Amino acid sequence: MVKVVFIEQDGTRREIAANEGEPLMFAARAAGVAGIVAECGGAAMCATCHCYLVEAPAGGPPPPATAEADTIEFVADTPRDNSRLTCQIRATPALEGAVFQVATGR
Ligand code: FES
Repeated sequence: MVKVVFIEQDGTRREIAANEGEPLMFAARAAGVAGIVAECGGAAMCATCHCYLVEAPAGGPPPPATAEADTIEFVADTPRDNSRLTCQIRATPALEGAVFQVATGR
């Protein structure tokens, strides 16, 4: 299991555990993290799983692929340099201790 933290829009910190290889969006939904809606079911199309990667002490995820970067640029309401779609990030040991802030603007 890989433990990561989500900070919900009201500031609540939620530590969740994801199975290795599992997209973080599914682990966050299963844990009931507020604000992870995931309307497209993980297809990198809706940006309702948009979060900001705040900390990545173990190295963090690889950079976004083109589909993820395009959806962040054209669909997400409040994109930033550290924007990520959590459906496109699979849990790996490099994510241990990472902190994601649920994006605002939905
Ligand atoms: S669930 Fe739709 S973009 Fe991630």
